[in-house]
Amino acid sequence: MELIDRFSERRVLDEVLRDVRAGQSRVVVLHGEPGVGKSVLMDYVAERAEGCRLFRATGVESEMELPYAALHQLCVPVLNHLDRLPGPQRDALSVAFGIRSGPTPERFLTGLAVLTLFSEVAGDQPLVCLVDDLQWLDHASAQALSFVARRLGAEPVGMVLATRVVLADLSSLTGMQVKGLRAADAQALLKRLVAERWLTANAVVGFWPANATGDDIELYADEARGAPHARLHTLRQQMGGDGKRERANTALADFVAPKESGLADYVGAFAVTSGIGEADALARHIDKTDDYGRIMLKALADRLAEAFAERMHERVRRELWGYAPGERLSAEELIAESYQGIRPAPGYPAQPDHTEKGTIFKLLDAEAAAGIALTESFAMWPGAAVSGLYFSHPDSHYFGVGKVERDQVEDYAARKGWSVEEAERWLGPVLNYDPKLAQSVAA
Ligand SMILES: Nc1ncnc2c1ncn2[C@@H]1O[C@H](COP(=O)(O)OP(=O)(O)OP(=O)(O)O)[C@@H](O)[C@H]1O
Ligand SMILES: [Mg+2]
Repeated sequence: MELIDRFSERRVLDEVLRDVRAGQSRVVVLHGEPGVGKSVLMDYVAERAEGCRLFRATGVESEMELPYAALHQLCVPVLNHLDRLPGPQRDALSVAFGIRSGPTPERFLTGLAVLTLFSEVAGDQPLVCLVDDLQWLDHASAQALSFVARRLGAEPVGMVLATRVVLADLSSLTGMQVKGLRAADAQALLKRLVAERWLTANAVVGFWPANATGDDIELYADEARGAPHARLHTLRQQMGGDGKRERANTALADFVAPKESGLADYVGAFAVTSGIGEADALARHIDKTDDYGRIMLKALADRLAEAFAERMHERVRRELWGYAPGERLSAEELIAESYQGIRPAPGYPAQPDHTEKGTIFKLLDAEAAAGIALTESFAMWPGAAVSGLYFSHPDSHYFGVGKVERDQVEDYAARKGWSVEEAERWLGPVLNYDPKLAQSVAA
């Protein structure tokens, strides 16, 4: 994505990459308010890290207390290097990641093990380690990572950590406060586009009787719940392969009553946009040479679509589905998601498969109903749009599927009516194996 402004921040981040390539460790903690632009700066680093090995992890609000979840996510690409660690450190990490069972490892030993692991892999190739939403990291991972960050020395390891709040453990590290973009400009443009009605917002929502069958969700045309009217597919986390993980591996299908339970459950779907008229507004109101204005309008349209999705979700809970008619939340509480239910979108961590949007769009007839189209690659047009599913289960929560193994990809392909190669193409970013390698081994 194109960044507005942020020249001094970019310079600092460019220097981090330069120093790491030159063999020097660097740590930067980005801190700033929600939505201020921390994650887009992380993406900036990721896009420029060519030649480096990239580790990424993101704190998830609901997994805060799952010990070592984030550290595990971060280290997935090099789990096969664990045997390069001295025995006790290897054992500590193996237990922390649920690869083996054993007594809970000492915090210090885990931290040390991660430090050794980072230096080991950085010996092959400079390492860039990006950890976002640190405020939601499980405590054990946060402790281990701040231990590592404080002790890195002359090894080619760069860490960029982003957080809404500065944690005490990190206060000794180089911080960089990310402040609001030229907020006044954005407000002025927002006022104008509202007053002059530049944009139109459309939404379509729908609800169906539904039950889970395995990791699929069957949707029915009516309460008779006969032959499925449509089928949603979900992916399941595959963490800590031997079942020693303290929490079950989650799939979205878990938030819908299984068919065999006999319970009459429901699922909703939505598509919203606030980008109708955006292209026209650009052409008519923004000068062709005004890059800043162009990006700002796009950013505003995107934010408005997110806000509209939030508002529709609220109406769904209170009136349209109506499972929480008495809910009254402030804007802050809405942002903190202190309500019952979730609205995960295909292409995001809980369901990384973008093609599921195809089913949602067909169910809603979203193009005719709301003027939102899907491109061949399952992107939405206008771009300022959000679509996804509604789940109402009190225990439903956001999670990341993480990386998936070949056994699940084969199963998923069969469920989707795809070849395994097709499934590997769509799930490329979340495969926990190299499909080419797997093929040559099979041959
Ligand atoms: N420099 C920028 N140029 C263009 N757009 C930006 C810029 N910074 C932020 N944005 C817009 O603002 C949105 C929010 O930014 P971002 O997701 O990085 O916030 P954040 O600080 O990570 O927030 P959170 O704490 O909620 O994770 C982005 O999706 C993008 O549309
Ligand atoms: Mg962010």
